[in-house]
Amino acid sequence: MTSQLHADGTLHHLLTLEGLSRDLVEGLLARAAGFLRPAGTAPARSDALAGLTVANLFSEPSTRTRASFELAAKRLGADVVNLDVHLSSRVKGESMLDTVYTLAAMGIEVFVVRDAEAGVPQFVAESVGPGACVLSAGEAHLSHPTQGLLDALTVIRHRRRVDGCAIAIVGDIRHSRVARSTVQAFSTLGARDFRLVAPAELMPDPGEFPGCQRFTDMDAGLAGADVVMMLRIQKERMAETDIPDFDAYFARYGLSARRLKRARPDAIVMHPGPMNRGVEIAADVADGPQSVIREQVTNGVAVRMAVLEAVGLAIIRARGTA
Ligand code: NCD
Repeated sequence: MTSQLHADGTLHHLLTLEGLSRDLVEGLLARAAGFLRPAGTAPARSDALAGLTVANLFSEPSTRTRASFELAAKRLGADVVNLDVHLSSRVKGESMLDTVYTLAAMGIEVFVVRDAEAGVPQFVAESVGPGACVLSAGEAHLSHPTQGLLDALTVIRHRRRVDGCAIAIVGDIRHSRVARSTVQAFSTLGARDFRLVAPAELMPDPGEFPGCQRFTDMDAGLAGADVVMMLRIQKERMAETDIPDFDAYFARYGLSARRLKRARPDAIVMHPGPMNRGVEIAADVADGPQSVIREQVTNGVAVRMAVLEAVGLAIIRARGTA
């Protein structure tokens, strides 16, 4: 398995948050915070990555993750190409490896990869050669590292620290790469009080999420929570017959204003998007004063700038010494 770190411990690829040190995660978050600007002012911009080309290789739909990787790269002066892998080469039978070699031959050095299949980001990382890097933008139900980082940044902006927070994660945890990466990010930063709230069929397998409490009763799981993170029902990862009835689901697991009162009065409400209003979250809560959902999106660009800058500057420096 390709290591995601250089020999000196700095980031080469970002495939998972598993195994990253607290210092490395805190360093990325501090850099990301430095890219945030007050609302209504111009976004942070530099030409630190001028001459670097980034390819977004997405084989699953994406709005915010893809747009935010693209904006992050452009705001650092890099060139960007966007490829819908499921619409282009793969449909014609080209292997992922040939696609990667083709793009590498065009001078692409950063590959941002989203794929429904487990192992694809790692496979691309093994294929690109030492002078290029891979950033996972979502791997199957397994991991979504930049989402975990942006969620951590969002909590830190509101709570100063992640450790000490009670974090309730509600909904389709079983199929959620966001839940997996977010718990990883928060654990690395010292959080210990996680409540997984879901119907039995959407709970992860017993061996997963060690140390997290599990609740099928949402009111009990939300009691005293500082952070309430809602998740979408991932129909695309379920058999037709397993998809719950949405009205019944909202009645038991939807976040209404009444239910939110179970959490702390100053609790923040998060959702990675895309939201299904009226299924997992009521519209008035999604748009209400405790919601930080749009800040998560803003923070996502900053986090991706921090990650791209870290890996991109290493690539540029290595060119100078080659
Ligand atoms: C999530 C994803 O794709 O894993 N969205 C995102 O990246 N913001 C969550 C989801 O699709 O429900």
